[in-house]
Amino acid sequence: MLQIDVITLFPEMIDNAVSHGVLGQALKGELLNVKAHTPREFASDRHRTVDDRPFGGGDGMIMLPETLEKTLQKVQHKNSKIIYLSPQGSTLTDEKARTLSKEEHLVFICGRYGGIDQRIINSYVDEEISIGDYVLSGGELGALVVIDALARFIPGVLGHDDSADKDSFSQGLLEQPNFTRPREYLGQEVPEVLLSGNHKLIEEWKEKVSALVTCKKRPDLFKEYLQQENAKYQALKKKKTESPMKELQKFLAALSLQERQVLGLEDLHEEDLNG
Ligand SMILES: C[S@@+](CC[C@H](N)C(=O)[O-])C[C@H]1O[C@@H](n2cnc3c(N)ncnc32)[C@H](O)[C@@H]1O
Repeated sequence: MLQIDVITLFPEMIDNAVSHGVLGQALKGELLNVKAHTPREFASDRHRTVDDRPFGGGDGMIMLPETLEKTLQKVQHKNSKIIYLSPQGSTLTDEKARTLSKEEHLVFICGRYGGIDQRIINSYVDEEISIGDYVLSGGELGALVVIDALARFIPGVLGHDDSADKDSFSQGLLEQPNFTRPREYLGQEVPEVLLSGNHKLIEEWKEKVSALVTCKKRPDLFKEYLQQENAKYQALKKKKTESPMKELQKFLAALSLQERQVLGLEDLHEEDLNG
């Protein structure tokens, strides 16, 4: 079972957030354990001080190294991976979340105020992770984002073991639009193929729609996908008649206006698929 220890000045933020939904179920099912620890536990003065002014001046208090180190020593063992949530870290990706889900023990350090003393980063931190190019007031939301994203890759956490593999990004594409009952709503009808019961056809259709949606919303990802598909196509001894791009262009051309509209693809044109 993956053990996650979170070092934070606001442990209740972590305890509360992980008790709901998929994470709450994973904790109950003992697929994952998340525990929050506060450096205040190791503060010896009567105000339980955990921060101080930065040497050399500047805005914001800095979290003291000593109380952080004592908290780290309480939770750390030889297989621990220690992560500092930081706007200076490498940005979280689906791939990173998947890799982290395979660790045995993760320790997240959540900074507050102006951040933490650099010497803790130098001596303890294995990796700095950011959740995006913006600055949060604390690392807790970042840690929760990482925990939520990685938990989806732990076998048994999602209803079906393969659900995470069908979500956006896992195959390099965004997921296709989804629909539920009723068949017609707000004057829009669910594409006929999804009602056909022909699972092979539905899967092929979903992959093509995924590619089109990715082309529209994330041309950067679509370009990479197309390169990979082209490489596979070039490696084929007996080529299909059509290249991956031509196949997609034909597929798009065959969609009716009503289908394009319900899929949110009415403004995607065949020439946009040139990659
Ligand atoms: C106000 S920030 C400190 C920023 C720091 N002075 C800097 O400029 O790099 C306080 C804490 O929020 C967390 N944090 C802020 N932005 C983040 C981001 N984009 N991703 C992850 N954690 C973040 C970090 O733990 C950081 O120590």
